[in-house]
This record gives sequence, structure tokens and C-alpha cells, in this order.
Amino acid sequence: MSPSPHTREGWGSRIGVILAVTGSAVGLGNFLRFPGKAAQYEGGAFMIPYFVALFLLGLPIAWAEWSLGRYAGNRGYNSLPGIFRAIWKSRAAPYVGALGILIPVVIYMYYVCIEAWCLAYAFKTATGSLSLGLEKAAYVQFFSGFIGLAGDGDVLTFPHGFWNSAIPYLLVCFLVNFVIIYRGIAKGIESFCRWAMPALVACALIVLVRVLTLGTPNPAIPDQNVLTGLGFMWNPHWGGTTLWQSLGNANMWLEAAGQIFFSLSVGFGIIACYASYLKPDDDIALSALTATAGNEFCEVALGGLITVPAAFIFLGAAGVKDAAGSTFNLGFMTLPMIFDCMPLGRLVGTAFFLLLFLAAITSSLSMLQPAIALLEEGLGLGRRASVSLLGFITAVGTALVIYFSKNAAALDTMDFWVGSVCIYVLATVHVILFGWVLGAERGYAELQRGAEIRIPRVFIFIIKYVSPLYLLAIFVLWLKQNAASYARQMTQDPVVATTVGFILLVLLLFLLLTAQSVRRWNRMGLPRGMEDRP
Ligand code: ALA
Repeated sequence: MSPSPHTREGWGSRIGVILAVTGSAVGLGNFLRFPGKAAQYEGGAFMIPYFVALFLLGLPIAWAEWSLGRYAGNRGYNSLPGIFRAIWKSRAAPYVGALGILIPVVIYMYYVCIEAWCLAYAFKTATGSLSLGLEKAAYVQFFSGFIGLAGDGDVLTFPHGFWNSAIPYLLVCFLVNFVIIYRGIAKGIESFCRWAMPALVACALIVLVRVLTLGTPNPAIPDQNVLTGLGFMWNPHWGGTTLWQSLGNANMWLEAAGQIFFSLSVGFGIIACYASYLKPDDDIALSALTATAGNEFCEVALGGLITVPAAFIFLGAAGVKDAAGSTFNLGFMTLPMIFDCMPLGRLVGTAFFLLLFLAAITSSLSMLQPAIALLEEGLGLGRRASVSLLGFITAVGTALVIYFSKNAAALDTMDFWVGSVCIYVLATVHVILFGWVLGAERGYAELQRGAEIRIPRVFIFIIKYVSPLYLLAIFVLWLKQNAASYARQMTQDPVVATTVGFILLVLLLFLLLTAQSVRRWNRMGLPRGMEDRP
């Protein structure tokens, strides 16, 4: 085993690492993004490309990421530039790995804002100050002022007062995230996830029981009841389209694959970083499967049964269709109104937004660790310095998101270019590194080392041939459908151009930090490109 560039941290227990990876995966994507997408594409039909993407992309890439991470972690690396250097001899390897720092850090910059909205909405629902009556316009107006949707810089003018703006909640979220990260892998992330994950599931169960026992709340509209709500979410034939017509919609396949990546946190660089803190013979096969299954349980069995059926019962099909395509509309304008008219609504609404907040924070934490790992192992910085530096970088990005709030333009731009496009690219790199550079057979052997289950050998074929081809097809289709309009936007909309410029600046910074890290690793004689392989 090679010397480590810094005192090696590690997970305290097996359940701890599983909960931490599941915590990273279970997030806003499960409870807001997934139900919205599924309802938009007629529920049952969406689940077909969704499960195809889960079995051909999500799970295989998760296994690959866990394997790459543990392999490199035992050679002294925890950050993705280091992990790629341990696998791939090319000089370019660590620089490609810098994507695995850029992605989680930039996603953190906007994700923490939504996390703050959830905290605020939990607090406001609990205190009753979000009870605005039965007119949706009131909720739209509140949310718009709360995050400054109407104009750039609006949120800083505090149209509803300081405490009715997102700012104080954002400060709290930043503080909590960085305090936990400062405490480290076992004492910070693991300890937090050990109670936050069960608490999150408990909140979800409270909301689920309430939604499933709503019956027919308005006897004057008997068609809007729990069963028709579930049917709206899950039946594939809603609205006159046949299943085959629905499956012919290429966009649905793209969105389903994108949802799997975002939801499982694969292609973020996070899983490899977390797995690098494992010991050489710790199981990864069953742990990865458990974390993936945990995420799917929260997404399909909890998220899929709560949000859309609840909205349908009170608003009917038209009300849900209106909100389904937009995460913000469904979560922050429609549901608060529904909680206001539901029996026990205040309790249930508080539990729901608390659930979103807990889900978000266990994910946002995981987005900080890869950069901390690079700053510590690559530059030799202490915990305090690395946390302060990352705090500064993320604060600048979040300030950009807060300021350019008109129609959430900066947030959307980061979400498209980094939260969608870059994730595809990095997921593809993971697949190539595992299947072709490390080699699928060697990778499979690594995955089976210490494994508590036997993974079918068909996995080797899938990761080597099927996943890359599937990824390529989807990526080309996606670029074809979206890139032109986004490129046009970039040249026409100064906010979009500024945000893309900022992302490139952050990338440059991480490339420079990676260059510095490479010099340090060279000086320390750390292995490169499987140099120490048997
Ligand atoms: N996987 C996280 C989520 O679903 C990022 O929100």
C-alpha cells in the first residue's frame, strides 16, 4: 500500500457509509423532481425508460464508481483528480478528474438555495405564517417575492421584509453544511446521516399516511379521491395516448435517464470520493446495491405516492398538469396551498418541508466533500483552511444565483450545463475508465473483493458495451434537442452568458489546483496509472 498524502480518514461503520451514500442520493430529486417528471410523462409510461436507465446505467455506473473509489483510496487518493490518476496513466487523467470537483461544487451553489427555501417553508408552515388561503395567486406572489423571481437583485430589497426572504435561511444552511463538513467523514457526515436519514423517512411516512387516508375530501367532486390520484400518477394511458405513443417520445427517455443520474448522484464524482474512504476488503457490491435500493424506495415508494396524488386530490388533473413540469411550481406554490386546505395540514406540511430539508442537506453535504478532499490531499491544507476556502468559493457562486434571480436564470443555467450536461460527460468517463482502462474483468474482480453478494457476470458486458452505447445515444439525442436553444440563449441573454463564464472560471480554478496537486503527488512518489498493480 502506498503512503497517503494526509492522515487517512475513514468511515466509522458499514451502515454509516451506506446511509451517507443513500443520503447523498436521496434529495430534492426524489420528492420534487421525480414526481413532477413522472406526472408530466403520464406516470406509468415514464417508469419504463426510468427502470431501463436504472438497470443499464444507474446501478452499473454506481458499482463502477464505488470500485474506482475504493481502488484509488487504498492507493492514497480521495479526490477525483487523484482517483483518476491512480487508474489512468495519462497526464490528462487528473485534469479530467477535476470535473468531479466542479460538478458537485457548482451544483451545491444552487442546491443550497433550494435547501434554504425548504427550511424556510418548514418553519413558516409550522408557525402558520404560510397559511395564505385558497387562492394559488397568493402563494405564487409570496414565493416570487421570497426568492426574487420578478427581477434581478429583488431578493436583496426584501420586498416582504428580511425574515420573509430566503437570505436568513440560506445563511443558516451554509453554516450547518460547513460545520458538519468541518467535523470530517465519520464525526461529521456519518454521524449526521445516521439520524437524519431515519428522521427523513419518519417525516415521509407521516405525510404518506395522511395522503393515503384522505379518501374523497370533497364529496361534491367524487372523481378526485385517493385512488384516482394514484391512478393519475401511475396509469400509463392517461389523456388518450397509448403506451406505445408515449414510449415513442424521445424526450421521455432523455428525462428518465437524467432523472436516474441526478437522483442516484452518479456522475457527480461523489460516490467515488465516499468509497475512497473504505478499507481494501470492505464490501462494496452489496453496499452500492443497498444505497441504490434505498434511493429507489424513497423516490418511487415515498416520493411517487405523496406529491402528485396529494395535488390531484385537491386540484384535479388540470391543476397537476399545470404544476408538474416545474419543480418550483409543484413544491413551493401548489403544495403549500394544498396543505392549507387539508385536515391536519399544518402538521403534514411541516413534516413535508422538513423531509425536503433533511433530504437536501444530506445531499448538499456530499457535494462539498470531493473539493475538501482535493484541497487537503492535493494542496496539503488543514481542515480549517480548506473549509474556509471552499466556503468562500461556494459563497461567491451562491451570491450569483441569489442576485440573478429573475426567472431563476442563473440557477437554471447551472442546472442545465453542470447538473445535466457535465454529469453525462463524467458518467461516461467513469464507464470508460472502469470498462476499458482498468478493464471490465479487473474491475469486476475489484468489485467482488470482499463482496457479500455475487454480481452476475452479465454486468461486465453491460458496463463495457451497453452502458457506453446507451450513454452515447442519449447524449447525442440530448444535445440535438437542447444544445442549439441553450447556445442561442448564451449569446442573447447576458445573465446566461455571465453564469457560463463563471462556471468556466471555477473550472479553471480547479484545474490550477489540480496542477498544484499533481506536483505534490509527484514529489511524494504516489502511484500513477495502476503502477502498483499485481
Ligand atoms: N441526488 C440528489 C437529489 O436527488 C442530488 O437531489
